[in-house]
Amino acid sequence: MKNFSYQNPTRILFGDGQIAAIATAIPTEARIMLVYGGGSIKNNGVYDQIIAALGDRIVSEFSGVEANPEYTTLCKAADQAKQDNIDFLLAAGGGSVIDGTKFIAAAACFEGDRWDILLKGGRNIEQALPFGSILTLPATGSEMNSGSVVNRSEIKAKMPFGNPLCYPQFSVLDPTTTLTLPTRQLTNGIVDPFVHVIEQYLTYPVGADLQDRLAEGILQSIIATGPKALAQPDNYELRANIMWCATMALNGLIGNGVPQDWSTHMIGHELTALYGLDHAQTLAVVLPANLRVRKQAKHEKLLQYAERVWNITAANHEGTDDDRIEAAIVKTEQFFIDVGAPTRLQNYNLGDEAIAAVINQLERHKMVALGESRDVTLAVSREILTAAL
Ligand code: NZQ
Ligand code: ZN
Repeated sequence: MKNFSYQNPTRILFGDGQIAAIATAIPTEARIMLVYGGGSIKNNGVYDQIIAALGDRIVSEFSGVEANPEYTTLCKAADQAKQDNIDFLLAAGGGSVIDGTKFIAAAACFEGDRWDILLKGGRNIEQALPFGSILTLPATGSEMNSGSVVNRSEIKAKMPFGNPLCYPQFSVLDPTTTLTLPTRQLTNGIVDPFVHVIEQYLTYPVGADLQDRLAEGILQSIIATGPKALAQPDNYELRANIMWCATMALNGLIGNGVPQDWSTHMIGHELTALYGLDHAQTLAVVLPANLRVRKQAKHEKLLQYAERVWNITAANHEGTDDDRIEAAIVKTEQFFIDVGAPTRLQNYNLGDEAIAAVINQLERHKMVALGESRDVTLAVSREILTAAL
């Protein structure tokens, strides 16, 4: 196991009715700005619960944070926060709103060109406003991590950043808020956490037995509950399990002391920036192809994944190691398809021209040595995209 340092300061307030707890979780004297998206919180009662909990304590509101939050919108929000002397942000929504709020928190305190925050991956953040979140779409893990992804469509760039100052102070996870999710977003909430786990687990062995078994547990739980949640859209327990899986998939715990890949995500971000696919949709397309192209380097972990997650063992499955690995990749693909996420570029009417465009973007963004061994060069990314056609 590699050395690691781990501290996750986010307090989780989990369960039905927990939005009321923000009344005590936010400091009494705080000047609060409520940040939200396109209005889903007004249609599902979340906004009313927030107002009921905080009463007249909300100083200002900023709405209209887009899915794949836009840099220019977030800069306007940061200006508003400065103007209103805000000292606490409250995000209410999915990953985009929480990611956006992280950027607003940093940008409101940042001197100089705010785009530098993205160019430096957040390493230049020295101060950020404190914030909390109310999660309404479990998928990204943003509610309990310090990372964020910001989109700047004018230059077709979707860039990640992170900083320890960008952990939410608290996050409310009330599964009832997810009952209004459209099927497409529920699908995203199954696929994205699944791939988060894979990016931290399916690399090469370093003897991190607990991290492996936690990762396998989350994958098995997502496989067991995801399809049921789609079939039973009113089931609270299933939503609760999906929500907690999504948080645990990317709050740092399973990534401690292990190599991490993230090449599927980086290639996927370019597909979103260029063609507007949902984040999770890009992952379902890139991951199976990525595993196929890099099955040599990931050989041992792929066999472990086949055996422990899909029960494909030498005893119950005829053929070679490679056959079992391919069977596990086929299972993964079928799982994505079953929960409503197609696995091919052609499902989105994308062909060879898209491959050239993505490679061009990866080069522009210096994504030329991705993966746990930095061996995913542009040539390998091209191979992956070709395998995903
Ligand atoms: O804007 P509103 O009106 O709120 O509607 C949203 C949005 O249109 C809607 N929605 C959210 N909760 C709802 C709801 N509709 C009905 N009922 C509810 N309860 O869903 C739509 C999509 O929301 P969005 O926040 O964009 O989705 P998601 O949570 O999947 O976030 C995706 C973003 O997170 C980034 C992605 O790149 C993408 O930009 N990621 C962030 C990560 C992180 N911070 O660690 C890691 C991830 O890998 C990912 O890259
Ligand atoms: Zn993701």
